[in-house]
Amino acid sequence: MGQIVYTGGTFDLIHSGHINFLRACKKIAGQDGEVVVSLNTDAFIEAYKGKPPVMTFSERKEVLLGCKYVDQVVANIGGADSKPAIELVMPDLIVIGDDWARKDYYAQMQFTREWLDQLDIQLVYVPYTLGISTTDLKKRILGK
Ligand code: CTP
Repeated sequence: MGQIVYTGGTFDLIHSGHINFLRACKKIAGQDGEVVVSLNTDAFIEAYKGKPPVMTFSERKEVLLGCKYVDQVVANIGGADSKPAIELVMPDLIVIGDDWARKDYYAQMQFTREWLDQLDIQLVYVPYTLGISTTDLKKRILGK
């Protein structure tokens, strides 16, 4: 039976690392499952990173919806606090890249292990694709 997978992110200048990641999310969700992307808003990105994304929310959303591994895109309405969006989606699993395994994902998302346990949500890490990221692509463009 399929599962509902939740994943959050900015997904600006979508690249092969994102696609590998979303493919892994879909594999975990299963054919009858759903991959729901909780997409950071332009206002949150600007407040958090000090500059807006290259692509607007609706541009990023449109590309994600065109990806065969994505079933739904919702706005990450809580900004730094991921709980409001997670409560709306009520996923079985939250999937993230394992670049987060070395950082404090719980602090970043503003939830606790206990909160996830109460909602019966599992946290799953998938391999991060080395050598490409939105930050890296911006540097590559500036070097041209
Ligand atoms: N991701 C991945 N492999 C990459 C880049 C991203 O698996 N090479 C995963 C991240 O772990 C995250 C999701 O894709 O779970 C969304 O990442 P996001 O932060 O939007 O993309 P980045 O390219 O990492 O952006 P930035 O360089 O601005 O941090």
